[in-house]
Amino acid sequence: MDLADKVVVITGAASGIGEAMARRFAKESPAALVLADIDMERLEPVAEGAEAHPRKLDVADPEGTHALIDETEDRFGPVDLYCANAGYGKVGDEQTDFEEWDRMWRVNLMSHVYAANRLIPGWVARGEGYFLSTASAAGLLTNLKAAPYSVTKHAVVAFAEWLAVTYGDAGVKVSCLCPQFVNTPLLTESDAFRAIGGDNVLEPWEVADDVVEGLRGESFLILPHPEVGNYFQNKANDYDRWIGGMRKLQRTVFGS
Ligand SMILES: NC(=O)c1ccc[n+]([C@@H]2O[C@H](COP(=O)([O-])OP(=O)(O)OC[C@H]3O[C@@H](n4cnc5c(N)ncnc54)[C@H](O)[C@@H]3O)[C@@H](O)[C@H]2O)c1
Repeated sequence: MDLADKVVVITGAASGIGEAMARRFAKESPAALVLADIDMERLEPVAEGAEAHPRKLDVADPEGTHALIDETEDRFGPVDLYCANAGYGKVGDEQTDFEEWDRMWRVNLMSHVYAANRLIPGWVARGEGYFLSTASAAGLLTNLKAAPYSVTKHAVVAFAEWLAVTYGDAGVKVSCLCPQFVNTPLLTESDAFRAIGGDNVLEPWEVADDVVEGLRGESFLILPHPEVGNYFQNKANDYDRWIGGMRKLQRTVFGS
């Protein structure tokens, strides 16, 4: 997909990868760029810089998500590309509060389902439409010390691949962005995530460049860290060996 003259929505656009995508997409002359985030204070200046339309949205709210898409389509015409990017990650395990597990399911995964629920019938009728899911390398591999994050991101990959399989013949395109470590508050504000990332950290603008290329090529997986593709293959080739390697990495990084 070429972004020129397209109606594009990006969630989680106030910071990090979403912000970088907004700024990068703006250079491709979209017809309209609608930016959504729960944090309006940070979203307003991003929207101004990208000549975009800011909207407040908690992506965990299905009615709010549908209203955002309704408003966008009333004002600018059918959505061509929906970037389900908003998400968050933190350390957690099976002892984490169930409320926190529920919240992460809704923000990281159900937000994609709410958007697809509204968009897919129209896209199938039109014979076109593009869904970009921001998952994570954690959705193909795992994220040490972060069970809710890893599990919900696996589900994001699963939903994206299901959409691609189910609606590909109807003209719907799907890409799944799976970065590893990116220099955003999600990474930098967590000691554990920073420790795992080490020096292997990309800047958000580098990821945004890869997204524009990935959309142009309409490839399912967008891997800003190409080595993630090799790790994913290693995992499929020998699961037990891969788990052993991850346990070793955990001992190296955290000593336990
Ligand atoms: N930073 C990384 O290393 C990394 C790696 C892989 C995947 N990701 C994924 O990239 C996406 C963007 O993360 P980021 O690294 O840019 O983090 P970030 O914290 O810089 O940006 C996330 C944005 O999402 C918004 N947001 C959070 N919850 C929301 C909600 N309920 N409704 C609406 N907006 C909400 C935040 O306000 C923020 O502006 C996430 O889905 C994240 O899981 C990040």
